[in-house]
Amino acid sequence: MPLENDSRPLFPRRPHRLAILISGRGTNLQSIIDAIAARRLDATIAVVISNRSDAPGLARARAANIEAICIDPRGFSDRDAFDRAIVDLLRPRQVGLVCLAGFMRRVGPPLLDAFPGAILNIHPSLLPAFPGLDAQRQALAHGVRISGATVHLVTPDLDLGPIVTQAAVPVLADDTVETLSARILVEEHRIYPEAIRIVTNGRWRLEGRRFLVDP
Ligand code: GRF
Repeated sequence: MPLENDSRPLFPRRPHRLAILISGRGTNLQSIIDAIAARRLDATIAVVISNRSDAPGLARARAANIEAICIDPRGFSDRDAFDRAIVDLLRPRQVGLVCLAGFMRRVGPPLLDAFPGAILNIHPSLLPAFPGLDAQRQALAHGVRISGATVHLVTPDLDLGPIVTQAAVPVLADDTVETLSARILVEEHRIYPEAIRIVTNGRWRLEGRRFLVDP
């Protein structure tokens, strides 16, 4: 676990300044925007970054007067160069926490090293079950009776970083990928702002894999 010697060099500076990274529709981004507007979350979204110019989430950000940037991976020689470009956008904006919200790319060493212990992801299953793509389809195919959503710290291992919070959702006999996804999404929108609140509060620590919130 690369977080063991975590010094979090950037994180303590402006912990409440968020960057949200998206690739698509941005409903989780919207839930964070709404939580901030409703003062359920004390944070500022410094920037929204998408790797796709057609991501509807970009319009959601602009509608909320948030800077929204598209950065096309095809303009970079490799993944690390793309990640370095993202870091270059985040530093001057004094971002303290990076929130992946439907960002359909693996995060590589340049971004992980710049934000140790300060990158969150939301995944539509109860991890460690069903990591990777199509988690809801995997859950249905496996026949689990309960699935859900997980917010976790991002580490080099895909979808396997320390778990900040989870919510369980029943899988019904007549569920389709669409109906199960919709039920999980309701919980995603509830727990992501809550997880961000916990992490930005700073009163937490890691014990091995365990994310522990201090009283
Ligand atoms: C969500 O289901 C999230 O868990 C997964 O990608 C989806 C993004 O949805 N990582 P949205 O773009 O936030 O609407």
